[in-house]
Amino acid sequence: MTLDDLDALMAQRFSCRAYRPDPVPRETIEQIVAAASRAPSWCNAQPWHLSVTSGAQTDAFRAALREQAQAGGHDPDLPFPDSYPGVYRERRRTCGWQLYEAVGVGKGDRAASSRQMMRNFDLFDAPHCAIISSPAELGPYGALDCGGFVTGFCLAARAAGVATIPQAAVASFGPFLHEYFDIPQDRLVLCAISFGYGVPEDPANGFRTGRAPVADIVDWRG
Ligand SMILES: Cc1cc2nc3c(=O)[nH]c(=O)nc-3n(C[C@H](O)[C@H](O)[C@H](O)COP(=O)(O)O)c2cc1C
Repeated sequence: MTLDDLDALMAQRFSCRAYRPDPVPRETIEQIVAAASRAPSWCNAQPWHLSVTSGAQTDAFRAALREQAQAGGHDPDLPFPDSYPGVYRERRRTCGWQLYEAVGVGKGDRAASSRQMMRNFDLFDAPHCAIISSPAELGPYGALDCGGFVTGFCLAARAAGVATIPQAAVASFGPFLHEYFDIPQDRLVLCAISFGYGVPEDPANGFRTGRAPVADIVDWRG
């Protein structure tokens, strides 16, 4: 595989927000997880653990999550960012507007933007959801290692023709997720990845986010 091949794969991946109901074969999911676990981790600790739903279990989780979201009670294990200042605010706004424009949510239409946000808790109709957790004792470095795993999962899935979306929104309800999936209290729920076969023609999948140029990212020394 060349860098161009890998670059092409990375460019094809995007966060998919509309799915067909068809399940992904168990062997394919296992291969994606095995490939993602090639991600580097400090001391090769491999701190990631996944609870993965399929079929009726995904539908039951979706229903329970939606009920939880309607009840409220935002309490993530990992604190959400306090704010997105400066350029991060701009990027956040830009990708938000791209989504709203694609699905036809007008500026200032709070009811419609809230409806779109609630689609997170339908898991965008994906047939599978993986809940990612890391040992609390490993702290931010455990979460850092898991971030690499999440990216590896999304890329490996893309290579298998499987669409993905990492979702911090699902991690909003820490106590609920611990109870629902029997996740021990000494692990932090970091995020979810909803996945399956995408619906390319759905408006929610009709835009692509941009990236800052290399010159804005790197401070070259020599
Ligand atoms: C850790 C993490 C959490 C995310 N949480 C959400 C989420 O809750 N809801 C959502 O719609 N997108 C979520 N995303 C997707 C990002 O919005 C998306 O990756 C970003 O806008 C770049 O677009 P792309 O993935 O299509 O390239 C998340 C991505 C990451 C890496």
